[in-house]
Amino acid sequence: MKKTIALLFALNFSVLVLGQGNTHNQTGGKFEGLAMKPPMGWNSWNTFATNIDEKLVKETADIMVSSGLAAAGYNYIVLDDGWMTKERDANGDLVPDPAKFPNGMKSLIDYVHSKGLKFGLYNCAGTQTCAGYPGTRGYEYQDARFYARLGIDFLKYDWCNTKGITAPEAYTTMSNALKTAGRPIVFSLCEWGDNQPWEWGKPIGNLWRISGDIYPCFDCEFKHPENWSSWGFMKIAEMRKDIRKYSGPDHWNDFDMMEVGNEMNDTEDKSHFAMWCMLSSPLFTGNDYRKMSKETLAILTNKDLIAINQDKLGIQGFKYSAEDGVEVWVKPLSDGNWAVTFLNRSDAVKKVNFDWKENTIKDADFGYEADFNKNTYKIKNLWTGREAGTTKKNFTGELASHDCITLKLSL
Ligand code: GLA
Repeated sequence: MKKTIALLFALNFSVLVLGQGNTHNQTGGKFEGLAMKPPMGWNSWNTFATNIDEKLVKETADIMVSSGLAAAGYNYIVLDDGWMTKERDANGDLVPDPAKFPNGMKSLIDYVHSKGLKFGLYNCAGTQTCAGYPGTRGYEYQDARFYARLGIDFLKYDWCNTKGITAPEAYTTMSNALKTAGRPIVFSLCEWGDNQPWEWGKPIGNLWRISGDIYPCFDCEFKHPENWSSWGFMKIAEMRKDIRKYSGPDHWNDFDMMEVGNEMNDTEDKSHFAMWCMLSSPLFTGNDYRKMSKETLAILTNKDLIAINQDKLGIQGFKYSAEDGVEVWVKPLSDGNWAVTFLNRSDAVKKVNFDWKENTIKDADFGYEADFNKNTYKIKNLWTGREAGTTKKNFTGELASHDCITLKLSL
């Protein structure tokens, strides 16, 4: 009899536990609608790595507002790896490094919020972050509650030290944990495209990295001694040819934080920014605002380019053609309009002479078409801000090495 009661109790208990598991699945799924346009902001990693502190964040937030970056649409300040101490506290909570953040993380987040901006943090699905700080594995629900208490708005979730776990499961667990914690937090999947997050990320995340890390060069591969590579921006732009159909409002392919204002020249920075706009990538600046040149600021705040990136259709552009070193990238926009970028991939100066009428542009993934024999479009050059005739006449121009011209074609 006692045995039967014990068995019944055990059965009931497991039904209860299973029931709880199901509840999580039912209430799971990301907070919908938090990133209907590609998120824009600043991330600390590209310039500062783990050398981050309260002063840097406050100054960055101040400049984001005073420089016009915030007015142009940049509003997330995201602290990447290195914000915590090497050990959790006695309760198992993460600890913001008191040497770097002497007034605590909450007061810093309140400061950023008081400027009308949003705040993000970083962690990792594995046992440790890529830089060796405590990872979230086994602490998903506890960490999600910690983030909700702090009041963050964005979580970048990386993929180092993840031996033995699968990406869809690990990212689903964290997504469910965030949902259960109850604070709407944009969930940014950073597993480098290794496990095709575009195929399973949409119900659980708002954006996902599609590549390994960016490197501040036009088209290079930088080989790290530990046997991994970082990539020039054109390499990333082309890395995954067939995944544009997976990107769209609230579920973006993320081409990585930008290197504009870092080690490339202004011409390459301009092309880098144009490509991230054409590709509907999230626009996270990765430079030191305190040392930003006016040329860098002008590139990052070009309103017409940003409007291409933020277009409400949310369609990722694609390469239409490549001839003699000049590539033509196109992006369908709302209201039947298009963006077109001519980009000189070569080391020589190139002339552009584009006969619209000989080119009907078809978007096979989304079913858009630009037929220049049926429709005439007005042309605006988005880098000079000038009107440039219509598609009745050939478009002509000249491109320095690695330079680009971005046009908006309007009906
Ligand atoms: C990985 C990510 C980077 C950055 C670092 C931090 O390499 O891809 O974007 O977050 O980790 O350690």
